[in-house]
Amino acid sequence: MLQPFDQRNKSIQIWVGDRLFPRGEAKVSVFDSSVQGGDAVWEGLRLYRGGIFSLDEHLARLEASAHALCFRNIPEKEFIREAIIKTLRANGMKDGVHIRLTLTRGEKITSGMDPRLNEAGPCLIVLAEWKPIVYDNTAGIRVITSSVARNSPRHLDSKIHHNNLLNNIQAKIQATVAGVDAAVMLDVNGFVSELNDTNLFMVKDGRLFTPHADACLHGITRGVVIGIARKLNIPVTERNLSLTEFYNADEVFGTGTMGELTPVVEMDGRQIRNRSGQQILDQLRKEFANRVAEHCVALPL
Ligand SMILES: Cc1ncc(COP(=O)(O)O)c(C=O)c1O
Repeated sequence: MLQPFDQRNKSIQIWVGDRLFPRGEAKVSVFDSSVQGGDAVWEGLRLYRGGIFSLDEHLARLEASAHALCFRNIPEKEFIREAIIKTLRANGMKDGVHIRLTLTRGEKITSGMDPRLNEAGPCLIVLAEWKPIVYDNTAGIRVITSSVARNSPRHLDSKIHHNNLLNNIQAKIQATVAGVDAAVMLDVNGFVSELNDTNLFMVKDGRLFTPHADACLHGITRGVVIGIARKLNIPVTERNLSLTEFYNADEVFGTGTMGELTPVVEMDGRQIRNRSGQQILDQLRKEFANRVAEHCVALPL
């Protein structure tokens, strides 16, 4: 299901480069690297009651992704933080907001692949929209397995949160065609990696399992959930996991900034049946809700 469009987003202000523009005028050049080669990095942030969840971790990952791609003149974190504050203030936003933070390699002097053509330096985009949590976390979601794999570090390292999202977009199209919400993506060896848009966990006999972050994104929510499980004395293991293990898990769920903790109720037509009687996901979600405030960086809005 597509979320209904929030009419308030028709008149938002968007940060591009070094200032704010009304939505209709917020544009990058046809020479921008994101247009030329998907050459950009990004973060999805969520604003809760005037604070951004795990802001420092997101800014650190954005910078690490840009550094790994050899961007020159990466903006200081303080500049990005200020741009976020100015954008939220201009829109009167304090809660129920998703921010898509993008840093492109910037405008090229002529079309082409070579980053030496990027004389202007990177371009920052702060797109803040009124947006609820993406999935129905009460009913849960149904997923299928995509034929499109996640990249291995030899192809395009998942430690870089980049804008080359075509694998994931193709997987999402397959999910839509199959009439379900999202698609499981495998790694090059056929082990489960993640969903097309969130990290994946499973619970079996009171233990929590998640794939190594080799092919999946090293999600910030994933890290918070692992930390919560450790604090609650729930054993956590990161290892190769097959689809068969997921089909027979007691609980399966996705994690991400856009959807928080989302139960997966069906995978490839198999119902996820809880044979243990334990409700580990409930415990994790309760603690996650408590931690949201703790992990939010309050902003002067
Ligand atoms: C492919 C993919 N997996 C997982 C996630 C969740 O990551 P995070 O918890 O850092 O939001 C994202 C978010 O952008 C993503 O794009």
